Amino acid sequence: MSRPGKRYALILAAGKGTRFNSEKPKVLHELCGRPMILYLLDRLPELNVDRTFIITGHGASQVREALADYPVEFIHQEPQLGTGHAVMTALPQLQALTGSLLVLYGDTVLVSTAHLQRLFETLEAKDADHVLLTMKLQDPTGYGRILRDENGCIIDIVEEKEASHEQLEIREINPGFNCFRIEPLTKVLPELKPQNKAGEYYLTDLVRLFRQHNMKVETVSVATSGDELGINDRQQLARAEKKIRREINMRWMSHGVTMIDPEHTYIDYMVELDSDVVLYPGVILQGRTRVGKGSRIGAQSHLEDSTVGNHSMIDHSSVIRNSEIGSEAHVGPFAHLRSGCVIGDHARVGNYVEMKNTRFGRNSKAAHLTYLGDAMVGESVNIGAGTITCNYD
Ligand code: UD1
Ligand code: CA
Repeated sequence: MSRPGKRYALILAAGKGTRFNSEKPKVLHELCGRPMILYLLDRLPELNVDRTFIITGHGASQVREALADYPVEFIHQEPQLGTGHAVMTALPQLQALTGSLLVLYGDTVLVSTAHLQRLFETLEAKDADHVLLTMKLQDPTGYGRILRDENGCIIDIVEEKEASHEQLEIREINPGFNCFRIEPLTKVLPELKPQNKAGEYYLTDLVRLFRQHNMKVETVSVATSGDELGINDRQQLARAEKKIRREINMRWMSHGVTMIDPEHTYIDYMVELDSDVVLYPGVILQGRTRVGKGSRIGAQSHLEDSTVGNHSMIDHSSVIRNSEIGSEAHVGPFAHLRSGCVIGDHARVGNYVEMKNTRFGRNSKAAHLTYLGDAMVGESVNIGAGTITCNYD
């Protein structure tokens, strides 16, 4: 019997991220220029989730600010006493709802939508009370291990910290994706106790409690692509970023961008590129950078929040921030456009030229060794080598 109903999501994002050793909340650490938690939020519209709750704690105001444009509701957890406690904090909101609730960890963000969809579907199709994803890892270190009875039914999850020698050998793990029917969840949650060395309320203890209440716990076991793993430290952050970076590069190459060495090309999530753009090795494109048709970005050049028109050349080792370059322009090698520069079509900004807050008209040239600060340069002007303008007081 299926029990369709409304779907909700709850994302735990209150933890400190101790292993990050950072002032920034863990879920705001970026993958290709974008807070990691946003990759998780991307998955929700496709799942037809009705409302999304975010548990905040450490750096709550920063998290709220980063998610200001998203249709989510925040619940504050203070103090942070564990993943089970985080869900308990949402009890007042949950008690008013019926349907199913997906509970996700804000540091485990690259899971496929299909996996999450299967959790909802299994809950509904099998009329279960709790469904969780499991997978087998060659190296299960760091994860909660899945305990099953002689019939293969899940009976408990044991955290690594609490596991016996034999349990540590178990390779089936809890990657942290849970789906609950809300009524039984709100009934059992208050029984959760901090019965472990860490003194924390473990969400994972719910499996045992549900079984004690003769409630139905199902697992969906999937082969892992490695994406579903948590980001608990900067090594795992770098690994996840590499994965996303590769996807971004593949996507742009499919759209007609040439990369001389895609392994050494760094493009943020928000960047937009047109066809026949050519990127040389070591290029870094960040923020809301846009590069127009047929433009070439030379080796080791770094562009941030900047736009380049069509058929322009940004030559070797140039640094451009917050600026606009027109079409058929040539900038670099070794040019530095610091901020607020507008470079006209067909203009030439040569080597060792630095500009800040300068409008540089079409066809104009500053071919070598020049600093132009707060300047307005008209069209077809030729700036001689060694020229300096500035606005210093
Ligand atoms: C958790 C699971 C473990 C699983 C692993 C998968 C528990 C007890 N353990 O361990 O079985 O294998 O994830 O990645 O659930 N959080 C809060 N409030 C808190 C504590 C944590 O919101 O009081 C949030 C954190 O910000 C984080 C998420 O919950 O986003 C998971 O917490 P974390 O401490 O990373 O759990 P793990 O030790 O990885
Ligand atoms: Ca984690």
